[in-house]
Amino acid sequence: MTAQSISERLDAAMMVLKTHDAMHLADGLDRLDEDALDAFVQQIAGIDFEEFARLRETPETGETANAKIEPALVVPRRPENEDAYRRAGAEAISRGEIAAFTVAGGQGTRLGWNGPKGTFPAACITGKPLFRMFAEQLNAIDAKYGITTSWYVMTSPLNDRDTRAFFEDNNWFGRPLDSILLFPQGVMPAMDDDGRIMLAEPGRIAVSPDGHGGSLRALDRSGALEHARSRGVRHLSYFQVDNPSVRTIDPLFVGLHLEHPESSVEMSSKMIPKANAAEKVGVFCRIDGRTQVIEYSDLPTGLAEETDDRGRLRFIAGSIAIHLLSVDFIQRLTRGDADSGLPFHRARKKVPYWDSDRGETRQPDAPNATKFEMFVFDALHFADRGLVYETDRVEEFAPIKNATGVDSAESSAMLQTERAARWFEANDVAVPRNAEGEVEGRIEISPATGLESCDLADVDLPKMEPGQDLVV
Ligand code: UD1
Repeated sequence: MTAQSISERLDAAMMVLKTHDAMHLADGLDRLDEDALDAFVQQIAGIDFEEFARLRETPETGETANAKIEPALVVPRRPENEDAYRRAGAEAISRGEIAAFTVAGGQGTRLGWNGPKGTFPAACITGKPLFRMFAEQLNAIDAKYGITTSWYVMTSPLNDRDTRAFFEDNNWFGRPLDSILLFPQGVMPAMDDDGRIMLAEPGRIAVSPDGHGGSLRALDRSGALEHARSRGVRHLSYFQVDNPSVRTIDPLFVGLHLEHPESSVEMSSKMIPKANAAEKVGVFCRIDGRTQVIEYSDLPTGLAEETDDRGRLRFIAGSIAIHLLSVDFIQRLTRGDADSGLPFHRARKKVPYWDSDRGETRQPDAPNATKFEMFVFDALHFADRGLVYETDRVEEFAPIKNATGVDSAESSAMLQTERAARWFEANDVAVPRNAEGEVEGRIEISPATGLESCDLADVDLPKMEPGQDLVV
């Protein structure tokens, strides 16, 4: 790159900053070398200043404030015509119409893992990382249905390089290269208390990933939607990177999404009954008649604690962040038409910032910034009818979010073993349990052995001794 061209590009970036009254972002540029200036110019080009200005002017409305909020309608775990739905789902999978989609752009701050979360050792005995657990499921699905499943993995600019290196080091887990697409999500600038975009250090604006709702536009911008269409994919099976027990592609759920009268075949979601009023999961509701998720932090405590005649929580449908979305629906939401874009939610965070008076980056002691994030479940609002299907916690939800306690590797390992034990018992193989009913030992079932309990019918399952670690 010539000095001339960088100076021209820098001039253009300055014009942008002037137009948007953001010259404070140019502070300290005289300290930068040409590469750093180039990175700065690129960062400026990637920021949508107009969108930022719109967000600054439109405070989050709390659209639920005056709305009529009711519990969502839920398709029960064992729906009528279950076998017919399962068959319809299996047929769509066999036609290659369903792809897997993992959102893995989060920063994993709570887990304290130094690396992309998908590289975390999650399998309860072998310690297979999350990405490998998903890949092995997809390998088993391919073998079962005679297809090559497409897999989309959303990273963030912060972890894209490390995630890509991990897939490469693991030889893409044996998946055909043209069937996997990794792509980074977008970022949003952080806003200070004066409503200005924040500078982290000279030449670097403070940005953070735009939330998993950013996955929809990232799918579009990255070419993933085009890739999906070209391979005959019509629906994406969306799941979070933090849940090793997820059924990456579930024939019954696919069948319900495609054929249930409550589905508009645009977006469907899985729920589990909440363990208690305070459990930190979003809740499926009907707001003015439309299915929507209210995030746990936004659900008024009064509603969260309301019970019905039988003492059961009224707002019980906890979101486990598993959805099916049609490619057409995603395309409709990402056309760029402001009315169908997902809303941004605001979160107060501590964001390191450049102090130009002192000439240094400072770490704040208290939240000093607003971050903007989109949530994918807000897409439900735009679906004609969003179907919500009840599943079982042990079967499908063993998330790893925290270093210890609730939703940790330890609690996940117990749930993984419990599920494996149930699959053994459903196939008439006893498992040692203590007086409290807990499994004495650990069991890990490889996806190659079985994707669900019925797959074990023809497997010669070994007898487990108390305290044993059993991998099948
Ligand atoms: C999330 C859901 C909650 C749900 C719960 C189930 C939100 C706001 N809440 O809570 O309703 O009940 O999971 O486990 O989502 N991610 C990105 N990019 C981002 C932000 C997040 O890819 O910019 C991914 C993360 O990698 C992770 C997932 O989204 O896979 C969840 O994000 P997180 O912010 O940890 O949400 P939770 O509080 O766990």
